[in-house]
Amino acid sequence: MAQQVSGSPFLKPFFLKTPVRVVSPLQQRRHTLPASEFRNLTPQDAISVFEIEREAFVSVSGECPLTLDEVLNFLSQCPELSLGWFEEGQLVAFVIGSGWDKDRLSQEAMTQHVPDANAVHIHVLSVHRHCRQQGKGSIVLWRYLQYLRCLPGARRALLICEDFLVPFYLKAGFKEKGPSAISVSNMHFQEMEYTLGGQAYARRNSGC
Ligand SMILES: CC(C)(COP(=O)(O)OP(=O)(O)OC[C@H]1O[C@@H](n2cnc3c(N)ncnc32)[C@H](O)[C@@H]1OP(=O)(O)O)[C@@H](O)C(=O)NCCC(=O)NCCS
Repeated sequence: MAQQVSGSPFLKPFFLKTPVRVVSPLQQRRHTLPASEFRNLTPQDAISVFEIEREAFVSVSGECPLTLDEVLNFLSQCPELSLGWFEEGQLVAFVIGSGWDKDRLSQEAMTQHVPDANAVHIHVLSVHRHCRQQGKGSIVLWRYLQYLRCLPGARRALLICEDFLVPFYLKAGFKEKGPSAISVSNMHFQEMEYTLGGQAYARRNSGC
C-alpha cells in the first residue's frame, strides 16, 4: 500500500494533502476503513469490478464491455489509467482506461493498451446499482478526467457509448466524434472525445 501511495501520481492530491494525524500505538490497532476513498484499481479489485459490470450490462445487453480476463489485463498493464471509488472499503463506482494512439477508436482498441500514448480509451464507467442516480457516475468521471490532466502525455480521452448516454457524456464535457466503426453483437455506438490538452496553466497550479 505504501508503495502504491508513493508510486501513483493520482494519490498525491488526495493523500498527501490530508493533514498528518499522530496515531498512538493503541489507536493503530483499530482498522477503520475510510468512509470514502478514490484510488487506482489493482488486479485484486478485478472481481469487485466484474461483479458491478456484470450486473450493469449482462441483464441489459448480454455483453460486458470487458471480460474478467480483460479487466485483469488492463489492471495489470495500466492500473494508473483506472480509478475506483470505495465507500467503507466497498467499490461503488469505477473507470477503466487504457492507452490509445490513433485519432479514432477501432476494434483493436477494445483489447489493446498502447503505452505512452497521447489518448486514453475509457473502456467502462460503471456505478453499483444501489448507488445510481445519485451523481456518483458524474463525480467519478469528473475526478478521473481531472486526474488524467495530471498525467504527462495524456491529451485526449475517448470512449464509445450507446445513443441514450450521449447527453450524459456531453454534460461531462465530451464532444461527439460521430458514429463509431466499432460494433459489438449488432450494437452500434457513438464515439465521444474529451480534450485534456492545453492545460499547462491548470497543471502548474493544480498540485499535479
Ligand atoms: C451510466 C452510469 C455510469 C451513470 O451513473 P449515475 O451515477 O447513475 O449517474 P448520475 O447520477 O451522475 O447522473 C447524471 C445524469 O445522467 C443521466 N443518466 C444516468 N444514467 C442514465 C441512463 N442509463 N440513461 C439515460 N440517462 C442517464 C441522469 O439522468 C443524470 O441526468 P440529470 O443530471 O440531467 O438528471 C450508471 O447509470 C451505470 O453504471 N449504468 C450502467 C453501466 C453503464 O451503462 N455505463 C456506461 C457505459 S460504459
